[in-house]
Amino acid sequence: MMTAPAWQWNEAKQIGTDYENVDEVRAYDHRMGELRDIPAENQTILNLLRLPPGAAVLEIGTGTGAFAREAARAGHRVTALDISPVMLAYAAERVREERLAGIRFVQAGFLTYGHAGEPFDAVVSGLALHHLPDLWKFNALKRIHDWLRPGGRFLLQDVVFDPGPEGFAAYFDRLTAAMPADSRQPFIRHIRQEYSTLTWIMEGLLRRGGFAVEQSWQLSDFMSQYLCRAG
Ligand SMILES: C[S@@+](CC[C@H](N)C(=O)[O-])C[C@H]1O[C@@H](n2cnc3c(N)ncnc32)[C@H](O)[C@@H]1O
Repeated sequence: MMTAPAWQWNEAKQIGTDYENVDEVRAYDHRMGELRDIPAENQTILNLLRLPPGAAVLEIGTGTGAFAREAARAGHRVTALDISPVMLAYAAERVREERLAGIRFVQAGFLTYGHAGEPFDAVVSGLALHHLPDLWKFNALKRIHDWLRPGGRFLLQDVVFDPGPEGFAAYFDRLTAAMPADSRQPFIRHIRQEYSTLTWIMEGLLRRGGFAVEQSWQLSDFMSQYLCRAG
């Protein structure tokens, strides 16, 4: 294994929610089930990517592995990364329960995964890039670009903020007040401690990382999705 340079961001260290703690992982799975329609999200992502059968797909920050499983069910060959061995064990257990084939789990992240072999047809990452400060998001995006075949697609979904004319304090007060009770504290911790950036910075990072942003959506007041093509 290559040693990281002394100046490199340590992505192995969890920030905000501790996904190395199995109780936090279970609580996260439960909260997301309440907040999101994850099967519908994953179907939409697969429809947007329009992949040929048996495509090579990389997912970064797989978490409980819901997207990886949906992609494997659709017949794709999936490499699923996460820095948390606890998350990976949780996701692998779901795969065993379903007796699914076609997913390779790797304990690595945006900055530490070393890719060898055929380029990917698509890369997907949901709610994970905000674990890196902006400097390192940029580095991660350049790396993702290098792992894709020319014209390959990158689908990014993440918490990205857009305070707009209502002002900073009013925006965050409104968002936190609208959260269901059991998600409010984790969301406040997210705003305070994690590295979600602003929409206009995210768009600049993607473009400067070598991507053409084909389509983007604000899924909510704090969640954005970008369909990008590697230039
Ligand atoms: C909020 S969960 C998202 C899980 C899933 N993608 C979803 O949409 O529900 C974030 C996941 O990213 C992982 N993660 C954090 N930093 C990472 C990094 N630098 N590289 C890869 N995964 C990372 C965490 O361990 C966690 O499993």
